[in-house]
Formats: sequence, structure tokens, C-alpha cells
Amino acid sequence: MQIISNLPEYRSLLQRWRAEGLRTALVPTMGALHAGHMALASYARGHADKVVMSVFVNPTQFGPNEDFDRYPRTLEADAALAKAHGVDAIWAPDVATMYPQGFATSVHVVKLGDGLCGAHRPGHFDGVATVVSKLLLQAMPDIACFGEKDFQQLAIIKRMVTDLDIPVAIHGVPIVREDDGLALSSRNRYLGAPERDIAPMLHSILNHVADDLRAKEPVTQTLNHAGDMLLDAGFASVDYIAYVDSYSLLPLERFTAGGRLLVAAYLGKTRLIDNIEV
Ligand code: PAJ
Repeated sequence: MQIISNLPEYRSLLQRWRAEGLRTALVPTMGALHAGHMALASYARGHADKVVMSVFVNPTQFGPNEDFDRYPRTLEADAALAKAHGVDAIWAPDVATMYPQGFATSVHVVKLGDGLCGAHRPGHFDGVATVVSKLLLQAMPDIACFGEKDFQQLAIIKRMVTDLDIPVAIHGVPIVREDDGLALSSRNRYLGAPERDIAPMLHSILNHVADDLRAKEPVTQTLNHAGDMLLDAGFASVDYIAYVDSYSLLPLERFTAGGRLLVAAYLGKTRLIDNIEV
């Protein structure tokens, strides 16, 4: 497996594969790889002849008080894991390659990026949309795979690719969880032991709320009660808990087939997100 950090080299590898008639998949990541990322790699393996995983901790999607500096950077371990899961190449550019001096473009997806995490992390989804559009255009893979773990991100990327006529098929992959229900995340390694014990409550409370919504309990009261339950369980604060349409991400006022329940909450200083289909 190759680790490439030079853009012309990366482009020519992909061009060679395309010329050989091979179908290519890209799995964008920020590294600190875990079994959730590996599920994307395995999915990609099943849908393409060649799989590239990008590893780039993207500065433009972190706010000034967020964890860009302390975000785990573990390229050697990432490469070993990726190799063991049949990844053919890692694209690991540095910041100067992705954002050379004078870089002045930003991709903004309106509406979809404004609510939920977008309301609490100003500029975050512009950073995501900008870097993902670059990652797609650099390689022009046949498909690119993203996790439903970041449900809003997936919706934004699908919209962006449609709107900008980027000829890459976007595939969503279900969330991988620990046995106790906690969604795998690179940020879970920030959790201390007591926090790690509380963290699965995020998923179990979502399941309770989903049951209540299916039982036609009133949406607003059910969501407010769930927020209180999270605080009682030991979460420091709740950015949002929302029941939305899966495509528009607009709030739903009553139980509707195809709705999605999304949550973001702080456990200590660690921000965790999760979502489930209702
Ligand atoms: P990162 O958080 O590293 O996640 C990379 C991909 O892995 C995303 O598509 C994410 O949804 C998926 N993923 C993470 N945890 C998962 C889990 N438990 N189950 C299934 N999929 C999971 O998301 C990003 O990086 C960045 O925003 C990126 C798209 C790479 C742009 O910088």
C-alpha cells in the first residue's frame, strides 16, 4: 500500500487506474482510524476495484476554540489498519498542499448547513464542503463513501455534488457502534473512564425518544424531556436534540416516516454526536 503526499503523483496513480478500466473509491477521513472508518473501507472494497483513503486533519473545519491542535495524528497506525483492510493507497497531503498560499475559495451549502451542528460550529460545514470538493476533484473517483455517523455532513455533501455537477456517486454507510451502543468516533479517545461509562446514554436516550415518537407522543415535549435526561445522566450541555426530515433536515412536528433523530452534546469538554432513523 502506498502513502502519497504529492498531488501530481496522486493524480497520475488515479489516472493510471482509470486508464486500466478500474473502478475507484475514495474514503475521506481525518485519520485516527477506527472500526467505523474501516467499515467505510470495506464497503468501498465491495463497490470498487481500487480504494484510496485520504487522511487529512482539515484546519478549515475547526473553529478557533476547537480541538485542531490536539486532534490525534496517528498516520503510522492508520496506514497499518488501512492496509489490513485492503486499502490500496493513502492520500495524506500536508496543509500547504491543500491550502497553498493565496488560497481564497470557500464552498457554502445554504440552508442544509445552517442548522443543527452548523448553528453551533460557525464555518464548520464550509470547511468540510471546501475540502471534500477538493478531495473529489483531485482524484475524480467513481464513488466516495461517507458515514451516516455525520448525518448532516452526508446530506450536505450529497447536495453539493449534485449542485456542482461533480461526477462522483456519494454512498452513505451505516453507523458502527461499540457493543454498548456508543457510536465509534476518533474523539471517543478524549473520554475519561467515568465519561466513557456515561457516553452510551446518548444512543439509549435516542432509542427511547424514537419509541416515544413512534407512539405519537408530542414531539416538542419528548425532545425537551430527552435533553433533561441527558443532563441528568451527566452530560455537561446539549447543543441540540432534533427530529428532522432526512433530506431537508428541517424540523418535523409530528411522527413522519423517514424522519431522523439527531443529537449533539458535551460530555466534559468532548462534543459527541449521534443519530438514528425513527
Ligand atoms: P472523520 O471524522 O475522520 O470521519 C471520516 C468518515 O468516517 C466520515 O464519513 C464519517 O462519517 C465516518 N465515520 C466516523 N465514525 C463512524 C462510525 N462510527 N460509523 C460509520 N462511519 C463513521 O468526517 C470527517 O472525518 C471529515 O469531516 C471529512 C469528511 C474527512 C472532511 O474533512
